[in-house]
Amino acid sequence: MSEYSFNKLAVVTGASSGIGLATCAELLGKGVKVIAVSRTCGGLTPLIQAYPVHLQWFQADVTEEADLNRLRDFTQVQGTVDFLVPNAGVAMLSAADDHDAFERQWQINGKAALQVFRKLSVLMSPGASVVFVGTFLRQIAFEGLGPYIATKAALSALVKTMAVEFSKRGIRINMVSPGPTKTAIWGGLGLSEGELQVVADGVSKRLLTQEFLEPEAVAKVIAFQLSNGASGVFGQDWVVDAGYSLI
Ligand SMILES: NC(=O)c1ccc[n+]([C@@H]2O[C@H](COP(=O)([O-])OP(=O)(O)OC[C@H]3O[C@@H](n4cnc5c(N)ncnc54)[C@H](OP(=O)(O)O)[C@@H]3O)[C@@H](O)[C@H]2O)c1
Repeated sequence: MSEYSFNKLAVVTGASSGIGLATCAELLGKGVKVIAVSRTCGGLTPLIQAYPVHLQWFQADVTEEADLNRLRDFTQVQGTVDFLVPNAGVAMLSAADDHDAFERQWQINGKAALQVFRKLSVLMSPGASVVFVGTFLRQIAFEGLGPYIATKAALSALVKTMAVEFSKRGIRINMVSPGPTKTAIWGGLGLSEGELQVVADGVSKRLLTQEFLEPEAVAKVIAFQLSNGASGVFGQDWVVDAGYSLI
């Protein structure tokens, strides 16, 4: 696509693993310069070797304001931000009425995503495009993930009004809500291997493909939503879940 070139700069958080890592690879493959943000370098090493000039890893904890200030200053030196994907997120098992669990997950999934946007939106010009990352569960139930779902549902609701407000500055804002995707987030839930397998089997049965999505399948939709190909799309939350929420 013509709007993709090495003159364009993207910032992706949660870039060391899973969907964020795949998004970095997708954008780099399209010729975009990428600042990849995460606490650890994780799976980024092969990409850094493949794109030594166009990919820069920026170590930061998105919940730390000082880190985000450093990120803004670092990014400012590179130029304007054309694409932003505040993707860093965590999922924790908890009872639906555990408001402390909501608070802990909101710090990363909600507050930090918004803070990343606030710090970097000052570096955006008309034509910039932002994609937040939600979840396929935002309109349905999933036992043990109530507070996690609520953090993403709140963000999804905010995206609509943010899209209206920031359209006045020429910034386009949308969201992609991934379905069950083969990433480390599931292993971090704290389930035993056996318990996780039972959950995975139950989830897979509802997928029209019968298997979890590859992170690349989500990354391609994020990249399209960022691009001018989606220039008429504002404030939408696209579910990419292999049909899970249809049934
Ligand atoms: N996988 C799924 O099935 C699924 C489904 C729906 C939605 N999602 C959403 O997709 C997004 C990406 O998740 P994923 O599945 O790709 O998970 P993942 O593989 O566990 O990746 C999470 C990423 O977030 C980063 N991160 C976590 N806490 C951070 C912090 N405080 N500061 C900076 N970076 C932080 C991690 O890097 P470091 O540890 O190196 O900092 C890692 O790069 C999340 O928002 C998640 O909620 C995933």
